[in-house]
Amino acid sequence: MAILDIIETPDARLRVISSPVERVTDAHRALIADMFETMYDAPGIGLAAIQVGVAERILVIDLQRPEDPDAAEPESEEEAKKITYVRDPRVFINPVITWESDDVSVYNEGCLSVPEMYGDIDRPARVRATWLDEQGVAHDAELDGLLATCLQHEMDHLDGVLFIDHLSKLKRDMLLKRLEKLRRAKAA
Ligand code: NI
Repeated sequence: MAILDIIETPDARLRVISSPVERVTDAHRALIADMFETMYDAPGIGLAAIQVGVAERILVIDLQRPEDPDAAEPESEEEAKKITYVRDPRVFINPVITWESDDVSVYNEGCLSVPEMYGDIDRPARVRATWLDEQGVAHDAELDGLLATCLQHEMDHLDGVLFIDHLSKLKRDMLLKRLEKLRRAKAA
């Protein structure tokens, strides 16, 4: 397994439309293992293959909820390290949304390709989706909560869309300016 480089905006590859996987192979399974390792290391809760430069319709998601659901939000990195998270790795290959609810939910989204920037995004609160897992087995299920939000965010990546595209131009430009400033500060 290996930690892969995550592509960041404004890299043009993030705008590529990914191709469906025709047959799930060992090479895909190796990629998926690397994607999980990369996502956990980042850390993040979702990663699309195009974010590591592979234009195939593959996503990994792990919401990594705290073992103790009543635990307080960690206030420092130190505290965060002490929390045990429940691993719940999910793989979505060729995901398709077949139904979405009229009710929307708002979530303060972030993205490993737009590091350290966040924005409130409205999306359907519940979706029904079909997909293949890493063994090529077909699934069809209704998803809600953060999993539904995360799936829609990751599926956007497969079509070259970033969460910032859902914001007003004003907000998007503000975030991108802040990101540039952050990068300059880090490079200095
Ligand atoms: Ni993302």
